[in-house]
Amino acid sequence: MKTDTLEALAVEVRSCHLCPLAKGRTNAVPGEGSGRSKIVLVGEAPGREEDLSGRPFVGRGGRVLRSALGSVGVASAQVYISNVVKCRPPKNRLPTRSEIDICRGAYLSREIELVDPDLVVLLGRTAARALLGVDSLGSVRGKVVKMKGRRYLSAYHPAAVLRNPGLKGAFRRDLRKIRNARAASNQT
Ligand code: URA
Repeated sequence: MKTDTLEALAVEVRSCHLCPLAKGRTNAVPGEGSGRSKIVLVGEAPGREEDLSGRPFVGRGGRVLRSALGSVGVASAQVYISNVVKCRPPKNRLPTRSEIDICRGAYLSREIELVDPDLVVLLGRTAARALLGVDSLGSVRGKVVKMKGRRYLSAYHPAAVLRNPGLKGAFRRDLRKIRNARAASNQT
């Protein structure tokens, strides 16, 4: 039976064995935040610290993300935050197409339906590919795209900003568009 609350979905995620990533994980990492959030943020996959704690974006990338959100006036408590796949891939490799398809269908799509936000923010190429079907982040980065009645804003992944601090300004400019998108959704 399909669950219909975020809490029940999180319980399913924690005991999931639908794909081979389950074998290597310490903890699966369900999305986190209020079901009444107007914004859902989607990263790629848990890293080492997320795997150890069972919580999304608690490592260095999470600190970059929270600081950037704060700088554009979005409090972490206002967002629901999740990942395309819920288990850490070995050695932080990219999740495979099949891992992405399985995890999106079983969990991410349902999280988004349950929260039903005004805006989904896609952090990095894996999230943009998984939800918009684009091959590169460059074609959509910094833009709000409407698909099947939902708005998506794509932005750099915080790990890209950690690797290349020169991207920090662009990352914050992208996230600033959350505010415009929120204002637009209030008019529709
Ligand atoms: N990177 C991600 O994409 N997600 C996390 O939860 C942590 C790091």
